[in-house]
Amino acid sequence: MAKTAKHEKSLSQAIHERRATPSFDGTPIPPEDLRKILEAGLSAPSGYNMQPWRFIVVQGDEQRRRLRAASYNQAKVEEASAVIVACGDADGWRKDLDRMLYQGLEGGMPESYADQARNSVPNYLSHFSRDEMHGWLNKMVMIAFTHMMLMAEVMGYDTAPMEGFEQEKVHEALRLPMSYWVVALLGVGHLKGPDKFSGGRFEMGHTVFSEEFGKPLK
Ligand SMILES: Cc1cc2nc3c(=O)[nH]c(=O)nc-3n(C[C@H](O)[C@H](O)[C@H](O)COP(=O)(O)O)c2cc1C
Repeated sequence: MAKTAKHEKSLSQAIHERRATPSFDGTPIPPEDLRKILEAGLSAPSGYNMQPWRFIVVQGDEQRRRLRAASYNQAKVEEASAVIVACGDADGWRKDLDRMLYQGLEGGMPESYADQARNSVPNYLSHFSRDEMHGWLNKMVMIAFTHMMLMAEVMGYDTAPMEGFEQEKVHEALRLPMSYWVVALLGVGHLKGPDKFSGGRFEMGHTVFSEEFGKPLK
């Protein structure tokens, strides 16, 4: 019987307790829980609200096997209840500009803003090199990815973010369009066995500065 979290963790508890899950027990995830996790991703902010993310939810045995083979044989890809393959669509902004503006205008976007965005979005994005586009997609998709990871943790699920995969092989396994760029995989499920050690984090003085580089935050 699949477990549905009844008591949600607070966000700070979820952030504190989250570990990259080493192994999952494979129990199925109820569709309503999966939808709630995905909706958290879709609620993320993005540049110009262009929402260039695309998510492929892999749950079937055969597809999980194929995805595992495209992911350096990482067992958790096959063990997770679901793997969300987080992609960015390099052509998304071309296809969705009108949709974004329509939705924005419905929600109170000023006409002047819409008129400006109609030009500035293509002006900005159409000049991107392939690498620049991938960098832009990485930024946007990882925010949505993190929303989903933390929502899953809040709901009592365990998660595993993964960058260990081969771009072309994932493309092939999931029959992705050429314009898609695979950013990361998110395994969701329930931990099997002992949790991973806590690797700790660098102290704030090593990674945070005040006002300019090198000045410690007091
Ligand atoms: C974007 C991203 C990709 C990762 N890729 C992998 C991966 O492919 N395989 C893996 O075992 N762990 C992967 N990890 C997990 C990290 O090793 C782990 O988050 C890190 O060691 C810190 O441990 P913690 O998440 O338990 O705090 C990835 C983490 C992130 C954020």
